[in-house]
Amino acid sequence: MTEKVAFITGAAQGIGKAIAKRLSADGFVVAVADFNLEGAEQTVQEINQKGQAIAVKVDVSKREQMMAAVEETLQKLGDLNVLINNAGLGPTTPIETITPEQFEHVYAVNVGSVYWGIQAAVKAFKAQGHGGKIINASSQAGQVGNPNLALYSGTKFAIRGITQTAARDLAKDNITVNAYCPGIVKTPMMMDIAHQVAQENGKDDAWGMAQYAKDITLGRLSEPEDVAACVSYLAGPDSDYMTGQALLIDGGMVF
Ligand code: NAI
Repeated sequence: MTEKVAFITGAAQGIGKAIAKRLSADGFVVAVADFNLEGAEQTVQEINQKGQAIAVKVDVSKREQMMAAVEETLQKLGDLNVLINNAGLGPTTPIETITPEQFEHVYAVNVGSVYWGIQAAVKAFKAQGHGGKIINASSQAGQVGNPNLALYSGTKFAIRGITQTAARDLAKDNITVNAYCPGIVKTPMMMDIAHQVAQENGKDDAWGMAQYAKDITLGRLSEPEDVAACVSYLAGPDSDYMTGQALLIDGGMVF
């Protein structure tokens, strides 16, 4: 096997799907991981990579499932070189009303998945006798506070902390760890948030999305492909001398 293998979580839709397509175009063989297996299989079909891409069902919040999903990828594709911890939840909750159940669920999916993904990937890289790249999804909300995003924002700040620490811990094993921080991306997650905001204000969804564009210097919302281009750089050889970083790809929201 000469091609490099990338494992991407949350790739049934949105940013993860765009990343899977972009890395496939870059020459990676991709494992499209999601708990929505049907959606993951659809992504694989769209990639149409001579039958090499695979769909893997996984709940990223469960350690044993992440270990098994990465192991399945090793068995089926013969290697692992890049892990992209992309799956995440984006709840909007006023800070006074966050419940213990929401806290546990959102942290298990957004933060737990990053720990378990790193453990699974490091085990695979070592078993294959080489290093690798780990890339985590943070957010512009992991850089600054946003209204009603205390729960989400906490997880995305945490991911930057884990990224910086893992970069120091794993450099000795020739593993780099970086993060990407999208702004407002046109995905099902963001459309749900905009829908909620629009309903609260008695407006339509287009109005809801337009509210977010106001804070963007470049004056437009992000396409998933904008983020995938940034991840392509982080996954490829041009970023070899880079670790512990969180790249903002937000059209100029935070600076
Ligand atoms: P999305 O909601 O459109 O897609 C998320 C995917 O993750 C879905 O396919 C879903 O099935 C999967 N998923 C969710 N929980 C899972 C679990 N427990 N196990 C396995 N798969 C699971 O989200 P989107 O917008 O594509 O976001 C992707 C990442 O980018 C997330 O980490 C999000 O926080 C981050 N992000 C998104 C922004 C946006 O504006 N859309 C902005 C900043 C960061």
